[in-house]
Amino acid sequence: FDVTFTTTSGHAVPPTLYGLMFEDINHVRSGDGGLYAELIQNRAFQQVTPGTSAALTAWAALGAASITVVKSSSPVSTALPNALSFKPTATSGTVGFTNDGYFGIPVTAGFKYTGSFFYLFTSTTVPFTTSSSWQQATFTFTASSTQTSVENLFALTVNAATIGELTMEFTLISLFPPTFNNRENGMRLDISEVLLAMKPGFFRFPGGNNLEGETAAQRWAWENTVNSLVDRPGRLGTWGYINTDGNGLYEYLQWIEDMDMEPIMAVYAGYSLDGVAVAEDDLQPYITEAINQINFVIGDASTNAQAAIRSAMGHPEPFALTYIEIGNEDFFSPTTYADYRWADFVNALSAEFPQLHYISTSATSGFVPTLTPAPTYWDLHIYSNPNFFINGAFNFDILPRNGLQFFQGEYASMTNNAGVDLDFPFIDGSIAEAAYVECFDRNSDIVFAASWAPLLSSVSSIQWTPDLITFSPNTLILSTSYYVQKLFSLFKGDFYLTSTTNTASSPVQWSVTRDTATSQYFLKVVNTATTENTVVFTLPFTPVSTAGTGTILTAPSGTMNTLTNPTAVVPTNFSFTAGKTITYNAPGLSLSILTVLS
Ligand code: AHR
Repeated sequence: FDVTFTTTSGHAVPPTLYGLMFEDINHVRSGDGGLYAELIQNRAFQQVTPGTSAALTAWAALGAASITVVKSSSPVSTALPNALSFKPTATSGTVGFTNDGYFGIPVTAGFKYTGSFFYLFTSTTVPFTTSSSWQQATFTFTASSTQTSVENLFALTVNAATIGELTMEFTLISLFPPTFNNRENGMRLDISEVLLAMKPGFFRFPGGNNLEGETAAQRWAWENTVNSLVDRPGRLGTWGYINTDGNGLYEYLQWIEDMDMEPIMAVYAGYSLDGVAVAEDDLQPYITEAINQINFVIGDASTNAQAAIRSAMGHPEPFALTYIEIGNEDFFSPTTYADYRWADFVNALSAEFPQLHYISTSATSGFVPTLTPAPTYWDLHIYSNPNFFINGAFNFDILPRNGLQFFQGEYASMTNNAGVDLDFPFIDGSIAEAAYVECFDRNSDIVFAASWAPLLSSVSSIQWTPDLITFSPNTLILSTSYYVQKLFSLFKGDFYLTSTTNTASSPVQWSVTRDTATSQYFLKVVNTATTENTVVFTLPFTPVSTAGTGTILTAPSGTMNTLTNPTAVVPTNFSFTAGKTITYNAPGLSLSILTVLS
């Protein structure tokens, strides 16, 4: 199998090509309890029914005390009507209540934990000087040892002798470990670090289905996710659990900036998971909401009210923003999208923000958008099996170069070839995806971005499998697909070089890209067969050094990284002899990247 390339023919590789798609999904949360670093579950009793046991999720009384969730007679804010009512049932001793976190609380030696809570004495008289209004207490502590178990409790205690028979209310009880970039109300460190290690070019958020809500009323609405945490009511997310929205629009943007990614921000486009599309006559409030959402991100804080909120939260300057996605998977209501939703949104938004690019999510005939105005960006999603991705490795080669840019916003080898669901990505599926990703390298003149999905899941109760990264409170399982994504991103280069082969059909896919600044050439080889295949590269130059470095991901068929064996497959490095001709024996089921210097 011979590959020849030239240095004169090819095209630029966009910096956005490989990135991340994120939404709060997976039952036990990929945002709350996952990416969002808050350790206390159900911290503000948002959206629960007072008096029910479900309202007490994660909480328990400690010692002689009774606790219940009540509708506060004097709520801390309009957004947070509920509180934990606490009453000692003894007159002495340490009493209180505990929270067991999001399926555990990790404790790490040397970590400084930062916490706060609101409290209120609801009795008319108190035996010591205090306030009869809500007060916020703050505290910090540093862990002196690491606990290997995450079965730890956060406890808030009082001396019953001091409190006596009084009733207190508590809410917004929060505890954070150190966060990425030390941000207040920030993101989980270890998850951020492994995502940063991928050098992702973009971050698509906040969904996915979680943008849309089960109903229009339950959509992700940006204005409920900003301002102080006491002003955020939370919502029943699309995936059947309550989102705190502590990880709100501002926090997303700040983290995206810290991670040096390009936001691809979605706006709700009038269609929800109940299958109902908002009628055209009723659409304007949602269009206004989208305009306000964008103004929050890029508006001038001195003249625009939404931008002023951003400024008050700590970011007077606009955030970077280029791409707006109008809806999510609107092919579930293609007629309403084609008839009015796409046009009404894109016309209004482009009039207000002509500098932005708008991504459509529906209405095509084959690969030709049939929307008016014609979209210039289109998001496609595909979940399938390894054979689909191997066979689809030339899907984009045949598309016309007519100005339309493609976004593979979601894709994954979700099952094996027999259609059986997978708990974790397995090497066969990940290598098949790698063959498909070669197609993005080769067609990166018309594919501007691609992201695997879903990104994150907790091991405690997985709702959608497989996921790119699975986590517990203190461990991460980086899947074989994570490594494929990471390698393509790290060795993306900035220029794709046209190459030719002497073999029409082969289980091997390949691509050649260059990092112009460093004169490094990346020869990528994907062998989807289970047996070795030899590739002979003929270079248009003699490498400056015969010492070539390579990275490979390979494993026997069926191998996956799991909770019990999280590092069954990891990339390894190797060296090879670089010359004008390079003969490489690609092992079965492998992704290899050979780096040579010109
Ligand atoms: O990634 C999981 C879901 O798949 C997304 O929420 C949705 O866009 C797609 O159907």
